[in-house]
Amino acid sequence: MNDLHFENIRRDYAQHSLSRKDMPSDPFEKVHQWLQDAVEAKVIEPTAVIVATSTPDGHPSMRTVLLKEVLHNEFIFYSNYESRKGQQMKANPHVALTFLWHELERQIHVEGTVRVLEPELSDAYFDQRPYTSRVGARISPQSHPIPAREFIMTEFAKESLKFLGRKVPRPATWGGFAVKAERIEFWQGRKSRLHDRFLYLPEEDGTWSLTRLAP
Ligand SMILES: Cc1cc2nc3c(=O)[nH]c(=O)nc-3n(C[C@H](O)[C@H](O)[C@H](O)COP(=O)(O)O)c2cc1C
Repeated sequence: MNDLHFENIRRDYAQHSLSRKDMPSDPFEKVHQWLQDAVEAKVIEPTAVIVATSTPDGHPSMRTVLLKEVLHNEFIFYSNYESRKGQQMKANPHVALTFLWHELERQIHVEGTVRVLEPELSDAYFDQRPYTSRVGARISPQSHPIPAREFIMTEFAKESLKFLGRKVPRPATWGGFAVKAERIEFWQGRKSRLHDRFLYLPEEDGTWSLTRLAP
């Protein structure tokens, strides 16, 4: 098999910078600003975030989800509670999140603890989803083996007919996760790989400390 060489792919980052005066005392102000910037820049999937969990053996496990809300300083996403990630987060609630916006040469890293979102909030979001997404959430045993694509298509067709013209109830296996941050880092790409990094850590009195990190 041929090797692959990417040594010649090289971009310098030069769009933006971060200095201490750009960093508010509340990191969530910056989170809001950067998410808003990503939405306004029309990047593809501006709310996509990689969620890292661990297996029972302590091995890392990651996948992308879509951030749907930031509520009371918690990051909210929705998934299947019995999926691989769902089972992992139940066993070990320590998670890490990475937002990456190539177009803005930015990333945010969050480390924190996850909990299951209040059922009423999951219901409220579920009810806003398109009919097909609501039906899909009911029939997909996410992360579990299925015999063929036909299996899921047949289940989808049956369930779609069953609820046609009726309210689709949120299944108990599907809902929100809320991540409370214990560490938030902002990364802005700069020239010559001398990037700007600022780390926020929570203090006991509810404020956040701010530290510049080497690139
Ligand atoms: C852009 C993108 C957005 C996604 N959004 C979600 C999501 O919001 N919720 C979800 O459960 N899976 C989402 N997925 C699928 C997950 O990455 C993953 O395949 C799935 O949740 C199963 O993960 P698990 O087996 O680790 O539990 C998304 C995938 C991509 C590429």
